[in-house]
Amino acid sequence: MTKSSYDVVLLPGDGTGPEVIREAEKVLHALQESSSSKLSLSTVNGGAQYYQGHGVEFEPGGRERVERADAILLGAVGWPGIVRPDGNIAGYELVLGLRFGLDLYANIRPCKLYPGVVHKIGREFKEVWKPGNVNMVIFRENTEGLYAPAHGELTRGGQTEVALDTRIITQKGAERIIRRAMEFARKRPRGAPEDGVRRVTCVDKSNVLRGCQFFRETFLRIAKEFPELETDFAYVDAFGQWVVRTPEHFNVVVTTNMFGDIVTDLASVIQGGMGFAAGGNVGDRHAMFEPVHGSAPKHAGKNEVNPFATFEATRMMLEWLGERFDDSGLLEDARRLERAVADVLVSGKARTYDQGGTVSTSGAGDVVAGAIRHTA
Ligand code: IPM
Ligand code: MN
Repeated sequence: MTKSSYDVVLLPGDGTGPEVIREAEKVLHALQESSSSKLSLSTVNGGAQYYQGHGVEFEPGGRERVERADAILLGAVGWPGIVRPDGNIAGYELVLGLRFGLDLYANIRPCKLYPGVVHKIGREFKEVWKPGNVNMVIFRENTEGLYAPAHGELTRGGQTEVALDTRIITQKGAERIIRRAMEFARKRPRGAPEDGVRRVTCVDKSNVLRGCQFFRETFLRIAKEFPELETDFAYVDAFGQWVVRTPEHFNVVVTTNMFGDIVTDLASVIQGGMGFAAGGNVGDRHAMFEPVHGSAPKHAGKNEVNPFATFEATRMMLEWLGERFDDSGLLEDARRLERAVADVLVSGKARTYDQGGTVSTSGAGDVVAGAIRHTA
């Protein structure tokens, strides 16, 4: 199963995407200097700004290269003022297009507060939670729900009168995300910070929505295959307050697409902000990893955004590749990256503006690359 070289495609995309992907490349090069596994990195141009110049979202042959890759690392897409005539966001093909096209049905988003990082509630940098109290992983369904391409509008005489988005929950879609979350909870070294219990929380709105009742019924049925796990339930509105008040209760969380989109941005606040929030879009054969923050036009070109979300996305990519191809070298690289990141964060030597520091994006990348070399 192990390969002599893994084909990793970088998709920098728009805005701050290229700035953070450059730092990911830097840390990957540092890891490669003393790794037993070989990565072959290449870049595919694309995104909203590319679309503006070329009328297509991928460079020629780019989509095929992405589809053939062993893993994909995405920066960010989207740029104000660039629209597609079909109403989709410009950059659609790189994010939603690949999620559907490669069937990346699990959007896996860890929410962990590292020692040395402060949460983002209010404007003061005060610690509220012990870092160890925030350590959950949110599984967001990624190929259906409100994102299903079942949209439409009624236009009469050039006037839009009705716009429609249909929320689709399928048995296949619900089953596979729930099973994936439970398999992950079973393998996780620890349970919830509060009590160590291997708890899987189903976040839905089953007091109102039929699709959510179906999702919860499916959750209860699949849970029978995992007697060692504790099942737990939260309506999405209540989860919004509990995740902030008592994050230590949560271990693994599973939810539908749109709710997952919203609650992962909310939860990022307790892990230090969007500068730390990373996600893996994972299917059975393909996977794409990304920082969740987006292209952040306001910060683009200033070399100031926090690259740690991209380092976490990179770590997740190495871990996924290592597991998929049974390659212990890649798993070791993932652990080395995690240790370097944890050491740097606790040292406070790479604090970007969002954490009250003055270190630049590339400066933070230099510090992490240095820490990797130091511990090689
Ligand atoms: C995310 C983003 C995307 C989403 C956008 C860019 C389409 O917000 O990855 O969370 O809505 O899923
Ligand atoms: Mn989002």
